[in-house]
Amino acid sequence: MEDRDDRVVNGEFAEEDIDIERSLRPKRLSEYIGQKNVTDNLKVFIDAAMMRKESLDHVLFYGPPGLGKTTLAGIIASELGVDFRITSGPAIEKAGDLAAVLTNLNEGDVLFIDEIHRLHRTVEEMLYSAMEDFALDIIIGKGPSARTLRVDLNKFTLVGATTRAGSLAAPLRDRFGIISKFEMYTPEELVQIIRRSAKLLGVSIDEESMAELAKRSRGTPRIANRLLRRIRDIAQVRGNGDIDIDITRKSLKALRIDDLGLESLDRQILTTIITQFKGGPVGINAIASAVGEEKVTIEDAYEPYLIQSGLIFRTQKGRIASELAYRHLGLEALLDKGDDPGKDQMKMEI
Ligand code: ADE
Repeated sequence: MEDRDDRVVNGEFAEEDIDIERSLRPKRLSEYIGQKNVTDNLKVFIDAAMMRKESLDHVLFYGPPGLGKTTLAGIIASELGVDFRITSGPAIEKAGDLAAVLTNLNEGDVLFIDEIHRLHRTVEEMLYSAMEDFALDIIIGKGPSARTLRVDLNKFTLVGATTRAGSLAAPLRDRFGIISKFEMYTPEELVQIIRRSAKLLGVSIDEESMAELAKRSRGTPRIANRLLRRIRDIAQVRGNGDIDIDITRKSLKALRIDDLGLESLDRQILTTIITQFKGGPVGINAIASAVGEEKVTIEDAYEPYLIQSGLIFRTQKGRIASELAYRHLGLEALLDKGDDPGKDQMKMEI
């Protein structure tokens, strides 16, 4: 198994990212690049809420990691001129933890809950009345003497984020007035983001390098920014600090990122489908256990880009490697065996 210590291209957060990511985050809607559909709509709803002096309706963002959901949630708070509180589904362990957060919100504040699909059931149930009636029903005592106490809350806006809208319980999903899907970024948008980040980091980078980085960032700003920082380090130590195409190419090679931006686990997933499962169709569980990775990590962080770039197809019977995947890995020799059970399914992508 190839080593995976340096997951430069995983869209999920790494510890070191957090501070620098924050410093690179745009603070206003006008600075935010891409996701035009989402931002155009939001702008209207934010303006309307401000004109009416009301809190903004609850917002749900969904899509793969690293596409700027947290950033945009923070921008909503800045645009509304209110405080921004961040937490996450797994961090709220008990209903009491949620009650503490909610009772501390001021009128109109934005509460961001990342990975909202991972909320505990009891916490989620408490959220229903908080979202709908801006009130909490707290049970005091146990047994026959137990009583319910209703606590009113200030009106607030919940912004929930999830990598998997499908895992959200319907009663929760239905309580969001605005539901927006985040798409992967185009290389042109990523170039704009890299240009902006390079300026903020004070590093010089040429056009060709920006284009190359954009192409290899899997449509994900977090990855583009992370690669930029890694290459900045290499340029500083090995060169004069400026990033040119020579340093960029050498760095990407050293980081084992290929022409399509794939890292070792992506290639391993593709190789597994092709060599162990004859190209598919194969279920996600079988792939996960063959590559020794968690199913959800593959589904949330790796598969979206492999599908987006046409390397695998998702069918009812499982995942199938595309012809492009065989060619990308230099496994064309395995293509024309004629016994590929998935061939007919290629057109039945779901
Ligand atoms: N940094 C990360 N995501 C961004 C975006 N969408 N626009 C500008 N800078 C970003």
